[in-house]
Amino acid sequence: MIVIPGPSSLGLGWRIAEALGVEPHPVEHRVFADGESYIRLTKPVAGEKVVIVQTTAPNPDSKLMQLLLMARTAKDFGAGDIVAVVPYLAYARQDKRFLELEALSLDVIISLLDAAGVTDLVVVNVHNEASIRSIEGKHGVKIHNLSAIPLLSEHLKKEGFAGAYSLSPDKGAIYIVEAASKILGGGYNYFEKTRDKKTGEIKMDIKDLYIKGRKAVVFDDMISSGGTMAKAVEALMAQGAERVAAACTHVLYMPGAEEKIRKAGADPILATDSIETPFSKVSVANLIANKLRELE
Ligand code: R5P
Repeated sequence: MIVIPGPSSLGLGWRIAEALGVEPHPVEHRVFADGESYIRLTKPVAGEKVVIVQTTAPNPDSKLMQLLLMARTAKDFGAGDIVAVVPYLAYARQDKRFLELEALSLDVIISLLDAAGVTDLVVVNVHNEASIRSIEGKHGVKIHNLSAIPLLSEHLKKEGFAGAYSLSPDKGAIYIVEAASKILGGGYNYFEKTRDKKTGEIKMDIKDLYIKGRKAVVFDDMISSGGTMAKAVEALMAQGAERVAAACTHVLYMPGAEEKIRKAGADPILATDSIETPFSKVSVANLIANKLRELE
C-alpha cells in the first residue's frame, strides 16, 4: 500500500501512514502565480493500492483539483485500487436541488472522483449519510463514512464532561448526540434549525431543557460561520448551564467564527484533524487507518 499525504493533509496523512506502519510518500507540489497547482507523484504506483489523503478545506476548489490531479496521475501510471481519504468532503451540503436549476454539487464531485480513477472514498461524518447512499449507486466509487463522534466524546469525558448533556442544534443531526450520549451518559436532545434557502439566515427553535447547573456539549458535524453553534451555546448558557463545550468533526475556521462561539460562552471548542486548525485536539488517524486495514 502506498500512502500519499496530499498538500492539504500532510500531518494527518503522515499520522495515518505511521498508524499503518508504512512510509508516507508526499507529492511534489507547488501553486503557480495564477493559482493553478502542479503535482508530481514521488513513488512509482504500478500495480499498487494507493491511498491519497487530501481534505478539501480551506479553499475547496483548489483542494479538490489537487485531489483529482493526484488520483488521475496514479491511474495513468497503473495504480491498482485508488482510495481517496477525504475526511472533510466539500460540497456535501449541496446534496439536493433545493431550488430549481441549482447544481447538484455532491453528485458532480463524486462523478469527477470516479472519472479520475478513485475506487473507494473514505469520508468522516459526511453531511448527510442518506444522500451519499443515494448518489453512490450512480457511480463506481464505494463510499465509506466514518464517525469521529465517539472519539470527540471520549476526549470530552476525560476533560471533565462525563455526565454532560448532549445537544444537537439541528434535528437532522440527532444521530450524533445519540452516539455521544452513549459515552457521556447525560442524555440528549435537539433544537430545530431552519435556514432561509435564499439568504442563508438561520432560525432556531429552542426548547427548555432544564439544564441549570449542568455541563453540556453542543455537537455538530461542522462549524463554518459559527452561527449555528453560537446560537445553540448561547441558548444553553441562558438556561443556566454551568459550562458548555462546542464540539464538531470539522472546523472550517471562517473569519469571526471563533469569536462568535466564544462570545456565546463555549469552553472549550473541540474538533478533529480532518481539517488542521488550532481546535484539532482529536485525531482521526487511527479511525481511518482501521478502515484502510479492512479495505486491504
Ligand atoms: C448544517 O446543516 C451543518 O450541520 C452545520 O450546522 C452548519 O453547516 C454550520 O454552519 P454555520 O457554522 O455557518 O452555522
